Amino acid sequence: MSSDNIHSVLTETRLFAPQPDFVARARLDADGLSALHAAAAADHVGFWAGLARKELGWQTPFTEALDSTQAPNYRWFADGHLNVSANCLDRHLGARGDKIAIRFEGEQGDVATYTYRQLHGEVCKLANALKSLGIGRGDRVVIYMPMVPEAVMAMQACARIGAIHSVVFGGFSASSLRDRIEDAGAKLLITADGGHRAGHIVELKKAADEALAEGCATISKVLVLKRTGHTVNLDPDRDLWWHTLLAEQSDRCDPEWVSAEHPLFLLYTSGSTGKPKGIQHSSGGYLLGATVTCQWVFDLRDDDVFWCTADVGWITGHSYVAYGPLSNGATILMYEGAPTVPDAGRFWKICQDHGVTIFYTAPTAIRALMKLGDEWPVKYDLSKLRLLGSVGEPINPEAWMWYHTAIGKQKLPIVDTWWQTETGSIMISPVPGAVPTKPGSCTKPLPGIAVEVVDENGEAVADANMGGYLVITKPWPSMLRTIWNDNDRYIKTYWSQFQGRCYVAGDSVHRDADGYHWIMGRVDDVLNVSGHRLGTMEVESALVAHPRVAEAAVVGRPHEIKGESVFAFVVCKGLRPSGDEARQLTQELRDWVAKDIGALARPDDIRFAENLPKTRSGKIMRRLLRSIARDEQITQDTSTLENPGIVEQLARKD
Ligand code: WT7
Repeated sequence: MSSDNIHSVLTETRLFAPQPDFVARARLDADGLSALHAAAAADHVGFWAGLARKELGWQTPFTEALDSTQAPNYRWFADGHLNVSANCLDRHLGARGDKIAIRFEGEQGDVATYTYRQLHGEVCKLANALKSLGIGRGDRVVIYMPMVPEAVMAMQACARIGAIHSVVFGGFSASSLRDRIEDAGAKLLITADGGHRAGHIVELKKAADEALAEGCATISKVLVLKRTGHTVNLDPDRDLWWHTLLAEQSDRCDPEWVSAEHPLFLLYTSGSTGKPKGIQHSSGGYLLGATVTCQWVFDLRDDDVFWCTADVGWITGHSYVAYGPLSNGATILMYEGAPTVPDAGRFWKICQDHGVTIFYTAPTAIRALMKLGDEWPVKYDLSKLRLLGSVGEPINPEAWMWYHTAIGKQKLPIVDTWWQTETGSIMISPVPGAVPTKPGSCTKPLPGIAVEVVDENGEAVADANMGGYLVITKPWPSMLRTIWNDNDRYIKTYWSQFQGRCYVAGDSVHRDADGYHWIMGRVDDVLNVSGHRLGTMEVESALVAHPRVAEAAVVGRPHEIKGESVFAFVVCKGLRPSGDEARQLTQELRDWVAKDIGALARPDDIRFAENLPKTRSGKIMRRLLRSIARDEQITQDTSTLENPGIVEQLARKD
């Protein structure tokens, strides 16, 4: 990519200052924030070391904060020992034992609550159960569950015994699950009979059975939570009911003390190749990032009810459901179902019924709910809300304004938080009591986060009107440590572009004259569909696995609700299909991709062609395909194409 396509087009100038009553109670005001920035600027490593000592409980304190000898495999607090689950649960038992840790609501209206003491007991029982199955320190456990409290318990139980979890989003298919189990070499799968979503049962156990039917030789047992109660197949040699196994367990389990560098989890995410990468996170540094950002960005206090709508299958559900808020002793809300069941007021009803004070969601949800009309939020009492957040993709100013007006009643601050699976915690975001916001901008980096905007030579972009690559120039505690089983890919993907001088995020960004950041999108072959990352190559590999498909190229196309949608150009074996045959095959391929990867990857558009536009060296001209998918006038030079005539055919919508 060249920097000429990262000129900013946004001209948003509205500025929203924090309301005085918010500032008056905020954990951080402008002075407090400046002090943190100054401390971090004066001594980057010392700043983080100080926070690590203050904010986390250590069994053995660390003596060295940052070890850069293996850079870019940085190590933070490595000779310190701690346990993440002890930090999230045990340390609150004294002052907050009877405080509610989790409030849960299912789609059908069923509710459950767990106090810190109860959650601790359940996690200990599960941890003992895992041990009884031979799971211990360093073993990988794949979690494939609905969005229920037990999913958080499963993560916490792994952390408690030093096992490494890898949560696979319940919307992923059997074969996506299989790939992740195999790459991680997992010993145990924790799943459920099913989950509830949009009035249907998500057949998790069925998908798990399908995944395990081939390969997955490392899996010895499958632990199954009874959630829906519908009939599922149980393999007597392999499968165990959660409730049966837990009934025998003690509710006490000493935490396994691990090095701060001990891997806490792997989380697979898409990149520019067909194979998802297992992003590996640490224990101490990761937890520190999740913990302090809850304080800085969400202003989290003891009387809050924090609702992050993300599923635990994504990084947001790790850092801001399962770990960060619990580390702070907060009350979280979890909701299993869809936002529009039974109607478009569901989210707002939940906010009212559970007294939600902080609400964190994705632009795709905001846009979908905005489209359903202002009449829904006004039906409910949203007066407890005090802070709104957004994550996953750029929020367009129109959606921002609706969020601000219809939900925030023009008073509540909005934190637009930029970060990634790899960064572990929020990197760029307003601090709500300190930083005035501009709709569509994630504003400024947090203290201790050294963000730069550089051109293709790695030089800082000085001109405020120019965009550039978003890079991070200093290591930070919650950064990924490596890609599981593939450190070369870690180095190549994130650290090779500018002589290894900085972490390359893969996003383009524009920094305006006020130092505010405007994320413009990915610079690699990665799509952002409904705030979720999807590699174009993954979809292409799924398509070419279909017997009729010879070749495929996938690009993103702007979508009103999803942000981006999948647009596939497909070359078939034999004649190019048309008419009824094309319609039928389109449907078949859409379902095929959904079955192979998950519904998220289902292409919205499929266009058949006799060929793809290629350069003489055989490279597919993706930029051209993007323009075609967007119905744009073709301005690119097509004379270098091997087959210039193809453009006209690709642009035809028959
Ligand atoms: C990519 C990371 C981290 C949470 C969920 C997504 C995009 C994320 C924002 C934002 C503009 C954003 C970036 C980033 N992104 N947040 N506030 N504004 N873009 O995690 O799947 O790892 O995707 O999401 O493109 O690189 P992820």
